[in-house]
Amino acid sequence: MTDTPLSTAEPGTPISSLPLGQRIAKTRVPTLRFESSEGTGHYVAQLIARLLRQRNQADKPTVLGLATGSTPIGVYRELIRLHREEGLDFSRVVTFNLDEYWPMSEESIHSYRRWMRENFFDHVNVAQANIHIPRGDLPRRSVDTFCEEYEQAIEEAGGIDIQLLGVGRTGHIGFNEPGSSRDSRTRLITLDPVTRKDAASGFYGEENVPLRAITMGVGTILSARQVICMALGEHKAAVVRQAVEERPTDRIVAIFLQTHPDTQFVLDAAAAADLTAIRTPWTVETVNWTPLLERQAVIWLAQKAGKPILKLEARDFHEHHLADLVEVRTGLVQDVSACVRRG
Ligand code: GLP
Repeated sequence: MTDTPLSTAEPGTPISSLPLGQRIAKTRVPTLRFESSEGTGHYVAQLIARLLRQRNQADKPTVLGLATGSTPIGVYRELIRLHREEGLDFSRVVTFNLDEYWPMSEESIHSYRRWMRENFFDHVNVAQANIHIPRGDLPRRSVDTFCEEYEQAIEEAGGIDIQLLGVGRTGHIGFNEPGSSRDSRTRLITLDPVTRKDAASGFYGEENVPLRAITMGVGTILSARQVICMALGEHKAAVVRQAVEERPTDRIVAIFLQTHPDTQFVLDAAAAADLTAIRTPWTVETVNWTPLLERQAVIWLAQKAGKPILKLEARDFHEHHLADLVEVRTGLVQDVSACVRRG
């Protein structure tokens, strides 16, 4: 892994002004790993702020696609700080939120509309008229027309410049559950049981979580000029690995992001933990061996070769990207023997 400031540097910004992340090797989509969730929030906020300053200078609007959930909280916190302490101006910003539960009243403590007010809009100077959030309070008969109008409004605003995303454990982006097509647009969708289970604590019980939601479609998301998908925490590690390492399938909707020309995944260390380059770095690149890594590699090799460690032969090392360790093999075998003897 190499330290890289940014995968999609825009001209005019000193690279040193952006927090550093590690670019992960051998993923199917640019992927950055930060030690902490704070690092991810600062990095993404800086990307947004940089575009915003450029657009403000040119007296042009910035269109942001926004997400709710615990993942982007750090981004909003940092953007609010930049607004308060550095005067970052949101007056020309137009926003479109990804999704909203349906049915859902605006004032409900569970509504994404209220969540956005409390966590972001009340603290920055985005004009009320520029805020767009799917409406959970509409009767069923009005929902489809609303969804079409939502798509039109995005288009009339000139399209989304940066789309911020989290990812659900089902691999959903927005509320596009498994099976959603790559071309889907804003629509009413039935929530997956896993998604409802994940939301249960906030609703004081799964039975209180709405069965449906309005979400931008996968196609709507992919129409954004830049997409930033964030994931934090070990509970996201498995789905993140699928999203950035597996081939496109509609089973894991986030995998469709691989087909977007300017997408990046921004992860904290826990969410990146299952990636091949983190778990078994010796399979993807030259590694600087440490005693810990050597031991991890040998344990992995024993599992891979289906042999006890003491039975591993030089050939096993060569066949599994571990030629480097052949020389240390003798020492390792002695270490293991000593451990076995000590019990
Ligand atoms: C919900 C939202 C998604 C969000 C996901 C992950 O399902 N509709 O947009 O990305 O949850 O939430 P969290 O960030 O809390 O893990």
